[in-house]
Amino acid sequence: MTAPEAAAASGVRSGLSYRVRPVSALSGTLTVPGDKSISHRALMLSGIAAGQTRISGFLDSEDCLATLQAMRVLGVNIDRPHAQLVEVEGVGLHGLTGPPTPLDMGNSGTAMRLFAGLLAAQRFDSVLVGDSSLMRRPMERVAAPLRAMGAVIEVQSGHAPLRIRGGQRLHPVSYDLPVASAQVKSAILLAGLYAHGETSVTEPAVTRDHSERMLRAFGARLEVEGRRVCITGPARLHGCRIAVPGDFSSAAFFIVAACLAAEGVLTIRNVGINPTRTGLLEILRQMGAEIRLVNERTSGMEPVADLEIERSDLSGISVPPALVPLAIDEFPALFIAAACARGETLVTGAEELRVKESDRIAVMAEGLNALGIQAEVLPDGMRIRGGSPGGGRIDSHGDHRIAMAFAIASARASGTIEIADVANVTTSFPGFVETARRIGFDIDSIHTA
Ligand code: S3P
Repeated sequence: MTAPEAAAASGVRSGLSYRVRPVSALSGTLTVPGDKSISHRALMLSGIAAGQTRISGFLDSEDCLATLQAMRVLGVNIDRPHAQLVEVEGVGLHGLTGPPTPLDMGNSGTAMRLFAGLLAAQRFDSVLVGDSSLMRRPMERVAAPLRAMGAVIEVQSGHAPLRIRGGQRLHPVSYDLPVASAQVKSAILLAGLYAHGETSVTEPAVTRDHSERMLRAFGARLEVEGRRVCITGPARLHGCRIAVPGDFSSAAFFIVAACLAAEGVLTIRNVGINPTRTGLLEILRQMGAEIRLVNERTSGMEPVADLEIERSDLSGISVPPALVPLAIDEFPALFIAAACARGETLVTGAEELRVKESDRIAVMAEGLNALGIQAEVLPDGMRIRGGSPGGGRIDSHGDHRIAMAFAIASARASGTIEIADVANVTTSFPGFVETARRIGFDIDSIHTA
C-alpha cells in the first residue's frame, strides 16, 4: 500500500455522538437534501458529455463531494455558484486526463464502483481508494464484468485499492448480474459507452434505474426490456439540465418516525418516488401505515411527490423478498418500525445488507438488543419481535444509516438513546440534526473524544 492508501484505510472512529431524548409529537413540513445516487451520476455523466450541464438540488454531502473532487482531478471544470448548484463544463467522452495520485472515494461504494466502469475505458491508469469501511467492501463483483469487456483491473483479495490499467480497447458483452446491484449495472453501462456495439446487462431483480433514465437524458442510445438493459457505444453525450429531487432514502427516516410518533402529521416535500426506490412505502403500508402521495409530478427524468404521513398502528409482517432490492437502503429505518410494531416481522433474502457501509444485519440487531428488543440474526435477514424500545447506548459502527435509524427510534423509545460514531451522517444527510429538531426531535450532537 502507498502512504495515502494506508492513511485512507486506517479506520479512525469519529468522536461524535448523538444524544436523543424521547419525544411524543412530530409535526411540520420539511424537505430532505438531494438524491445521492442521482447526484453522483449527474457529475460523472456531465463530465464526459460535450457542453455544459447545470445540476440543481445537488446533494452537498461527503460522498458526492468525493465524486466531484475526483472529476475535477480528472480534468473537468466544475463551478459552484452556490450551495446545491453545480455547473459542469463537460470534456467529452475522451477528454478526461490521468490523475497524478490515487482517487479517494471516501465512504462511497457508489463512487468507487461507478468510477471503476468509467475509468476502465480511459487511456490512462488510475487507482481508487476509500476509507476503512469502503476498503472492506466487495469489489470483485464490479471488476469481473469489466474484465470480461477487456478491462485490466487488479483488486486485493476482492477489495480496493482498485488498480485500473488504461489503454484497453473495451468490447461489448452480455452480462448476467449474479447479484442485484445498481452500482455494478451502472459501471457496466458506463464502460459500455466506450465499447463499439451493444453491451447488455440482465439483473436478477429490478434495481434502481437512475443511470438508465439519465443516460437517455444525456443522449445515449439505451433500451430497456424487462430486466435487460442494452446500451450502444460509442456514445455521444450532450450536456443538459438536471433537477435532483429529495432523496427518498433520507426521507425514509422521517417517514418511519412520523408513523411511530404518538401525535402529529408530517409533510415531506419534493421527494423522489422512482418506483425502483420506494419499496419501503409498500412494506409500511402492508404493516398498516397511512402515507399519502400528493402533488405527484415528473421533474426532469424522475417522478417526484410530496408525502403526508400520520401516526399509525403498525403490525409485523413477513417482508416479501421481491421488495427487498426496492428498499435496500431503508432496512435500518424499517427495522426500527418493526421493533415498534405489534407482533413479529421477518426479513429474508436481504444478505446484501451484510456488505453495506457496515454489516447492517449484525449492527442493527446489536443495537435493537441494547434497547431491549428481541432481534434474531438470520444469515440473510432478521426476525424481530416488536415491543417497546427503552433507552440505551448504540454503536453505529460509523454507518450513517444506522446512526439515523436509532436517532428516530426516540419517537417511541422510553429513555434517552446515545449513538456513538455518527460523523458519517454527513456522507448522505448534511443537516440531519437541524432537520430532526425542526419537526420536534430532542437531539444533540456531542463530542466525546
Ligand atoms: C446505489 C445502489 C445500491 C445502494 C447504494 C446506492 C446506487 O447499492 O445500496 O446506497 O447509487 O447505485 P448496490 O448496487 O450495492 O445494491
